This record gives sequence, structure tokens and C-alpha cells, in this order.
Amino acid sequence: MTIDQETFERLKQGAVRAASHSHSPYSRFRVGAAVLAESGAVYTGCNVENASFGLTQCAERAALTAAISAGESPGSLVLLVLYVPGDTAHPPCGACRQVMRELMAADSRVLSCCDTEEVRKWSAADYLPDPFTPESLVG
Ligand code: THU
Repeated sequence: MTIDQETFERLKQGAVRAASHSHSPYSRFRVGAAVLAESGAVYTGCNVENASFGLTQCAERAALTAAISAGESPGSLVLLVLYVPGDTAHPPCGACRQVMRELMAADSRVLSCCDTEEVRKWSAADYLPDPFTPESLVG
């Protein structure tokens, strides 16, 4: 899919706002994410840590969960923008890549941004080659 600047800026704004809500007292690493559905609706999430560290939820999965919880169907999620404050556009973690692969449209894109002009961009094939998918369960 092609991504126009206005759409990117709209999602970045949502991800920046979500990052400001990050509950990350342990890592002090704030992350925000925004997901765009075909309908034009945008869903956001931030990372939410816990004193029992393994229970931490990443921002990308929080945003995807918000979209699905609001009634969006998995194939309708076309773009995810990830934001981490600072001067590095960070890549999404492996767990989030697996969940993005299942819940986002086949031709969706993932963008990562920060406080500089740097933007990184992935397709599903880029971020998760040879994925484990629902089809893996039946064959
Ligand atoms: N984190 C995310 O929210 N997304 C990622 O893709 C990588 C890591 C969060 C989890 C934890 O709260 C903090 O960043 C440091 O790992």
C-alpha cells in the first residue's frame, strides 16, 4: 500500500500521544503505537510494564488489541506506526512481529519513527520471513 504524508503524520501524532501514557517505570523506555484500519479509524497503545516483568505488554500489541477489541477484523488493519522518543527509529520486537503478521492485512506496512526525520519501513515479508501462521495449524 502507498502511505501519504498526512496519514503518516496522523498516526505518528497518535503514537506520540500514546507514548506519553506509557507505564514504564522499570525500563524508562516509552513506546507508542498507532494502527490504521481500512475504515479510517485509528487505534493507539503504549507499553505497560509490571513489577512482575514478564507481564509487560508492548505498545504494538496494545494498539492491535484495542483495534480488535473495538470490532475491527484482522484483515482490515493496514498500517502500524511505532514511535519511541529520541533520535533512533527502533524496530519492533519479535513477539510483536508475530502478532502483527496474524492481525494485519497481507499488504500492510509497519513504520517506525522518532523525534528526527528518520523513518524505517517494513512489509510483512520483511519483518517476518517464513512465518508461523493459522495455516500452519492445519497442514
Ligand atoms: N517494547 C515495546 O513496547 N515494543 C517493542 O517492540 C519492544 C519493546 C517495550 C517493552 C518494555 O516496556 C520496554 O519497551 C523495554 O523493552
